[in-house]
Amino acid sequence: MEFDTVIHDGTIVTAGEIYRGDVGITDGRIAAVAERLPGGARRIDAGGRLVMPGGIEAHAHIAQESSSGVMSADDYRTGSISAAFGGNSSFVPFAAQHRGQSIDDVIATYDARAASSVIDYSYHLIVSDPTEDVLTDQLPRAFARGITSFKVFMTYDLMNLGDGGMLDILTVAREHGAVTMVHAENNDMVKWMNRRMADKGLTAPRYHAVSRPELAEEEAINRAIQLAKLADAPLFIVHVSTAGGAAIVQREKLAGAKLYAETCPQYLALTRADLDRPGMEGAKYICSPPLRDVQTQEALWHHVATGTFESVSSDHAPYRFDETGKFLNGTDVPYPKIANGMPGIAARLPYLFSEGVVGGRITMEQFVALSSTNAARTFGIEKKGRIAPGMDADIAIWNPETRRTVTAADQHDNMDYTPFEGMELQGVPETVMTRGTPVVEDGALKVEPGNGRFVARAPADLRGRPGAAVKEFDPAHNFGSDLR
Ligand code: URP
Ligand code: ZN
Ligand code: ZN
Ligand code: ZN
Repeated sequence: MEFDTVIHDGTIVTAGEIYRGDVGITDGRIAAVAERLPGGARRIDAGGRLVMPGGIEAHAHIAQESSSGVMSADDYRTGSISAAFGGNSSFVPFAAQHRGQSIDDVIATYDARAASSVIDYSYHLIVSDPTEDVLTDQLPRAFARGITSFKVFMTYDLMNLGDGGMLDILTVAREHGAVTMVHAENNDMVKWMNRRMADKGLTAPRYHAVSRPELAEEEAINRAIQLAKLADAPLFIVHVSTAGGAAIVQREKLAGAKLYAETCPQYLALTRADLDRPGMEGAKYICSPPLRDVQTQEALWHHVATGTFESVSSDHAPYRFDETGKFLNGTDVPYPKIANGMPGIAARLPYLFSEGVVGGRITMEQFVALSSTNAARTFGIEKKGRIAPGMDADIAIWNPETRRTVTAADQHDNMDYTPFEGMELQGVPETVMTRGTPVVEDGALKVEPGNGRFVARAPADLRGRPGAAVKEFDPAHNFGSDLR
């Protein structure tokens, strides 16, 4: 067989094993993996470097308006370029419904926005207005075109659905095999804290962290899981930031809940002390849930290493440190008026590799699982996330020895800062392919905007999930089929 490309002499790393070998690519797919493959119209000599499934970024806000109307700094061109330089072959940003919008319009809008992507993409659909028509017609239609995950918010006045709304979404998701993602923070606790802070005149960025206590996340995570159990639907808890929240996830998984979760580099690398930087610098570190403390970092790393989290995702939510972003409501405003979110799509995998693998906290196989393979499984991306014949040739070749200092300019995004500035990291993705085409190589972008394609996803793969067949949670089992 003649291959379009042969990646020769790589250290191939999958979620389950490491071995030396060659990867043969034809028509954008992996055609063969073997100790030695001949030929290849193009041969890439990996020289023992790591050949891994390209990263799949499962949490990013790209060309998305926040609920308060701030457009993210990155569009699909800059966001996908930044993702590719950070070792990602594909990503799944959000398509956000704001109240009053139809899901069909939302998807059409994001299809137009995503046309400039350099890597493959899909969307998680944020639902903020679950009308009858949305629930019965529009969501099933979105699902039918391969958008098999929904996201809901328990916080933010303009997004949160209340428990009943969540149950409605979970029920639709269950019927179709979709995964519901949730941003879990107790909205009333946060609002109550905000009022108390305002009364005392506590407005500096550091009070953002105080206003969103760990309890607010822990309570909401627990509640979200109980709601999902009532609906017998799979649930994905995004950006877990607390030791208590992670412990709840771990316990419920062991007890059989159909549960997935992620944390993010910022909760492993930074603390709320960063919010206390001079002047308004702290605004750069405002994200929700907020940064915590070093004890939490330790605990979250433990949960990364022991399987509580399927993925480590960036939650790339880029708002520039100026009047177009963080300070859209003014430069000297109280913390609740500063845009929430920080960039990190390019830093996610270099950080996870360096602090995780090089730092001895996780194995190389775990790195692959946490960065790619698990996201593919969880979100029904059937042709990506593994190095095996028949899969898309979404491959990242890493040099595990190269050291680099993180700088804003090196993120290749449309941001004017990175919260990881100055960090010294070891391990660099040198070649990043989407469907066999090098997107990034020799430090340069190799494709035009539009190289990426929409990926229609399959229903959630619950095989091997604890509790996938627990009868007690099945409404039909308990109450009869009239509840379906
Ligand atoms: O602060 C964050 N994470 N902003 C992005 C929106 C969200 O909450 O996911
Ligand atoms: Zn060679
Ligand atoms: Zn969120
Ligand atoms: Zn987010």
